[in-house]
Amino acid sequence: MSDRELYERAAAAAERAYAPYSNYLVGAAVLARDGTVVEGVNVENAAYPLGVCAEGNALSSAVTRGYRPGDLEAIAITASPCGGCRQWLHEFRLERVTYARSGGELATVAPRDLLPDTWDF
Ligand code: THU
Repeated sequence: MSDRELYERAAAAAERAYAPYSNYLVGAAVLARDGTVVEGVNVENAAYPLGVCAEGNALSSAVTRGYRPGDLEAIAITASPCGGCRQWLHEFRLERVTYARSGGELATVAPRDLLPDTWDF
């Protein structure tokens, strides 16, 4: 699956986001090395800080299915990943991150390009 096709999966997932407070719908799609695609959306809460981001949700779902760091090849996100999510992307050692820049154009980069001088436990 191409990065563009993975992005289309993320965009389709975004329509299922639950974001009644911000009205900012975000979708993410993770491509595992075995070809499986796992999607995620942002899910907000009336207690605002409890909301979760789409890419964290997608990665959490992938872990629930048994995938671990190194099992995941790429992710596509319909928004530029927030700071915290960049640490998530680093954790799972993805090769490529495709996301929509604020102008709408797609960028494909490595997680290290999004988070230099990473912290590791
Ligand atoms: N959001 C994401 O899902 N991913 C990001 O990387 C950026 C922000 C969501 C969180 C919140 O539900 C909404 O976008 C507005 O911030």
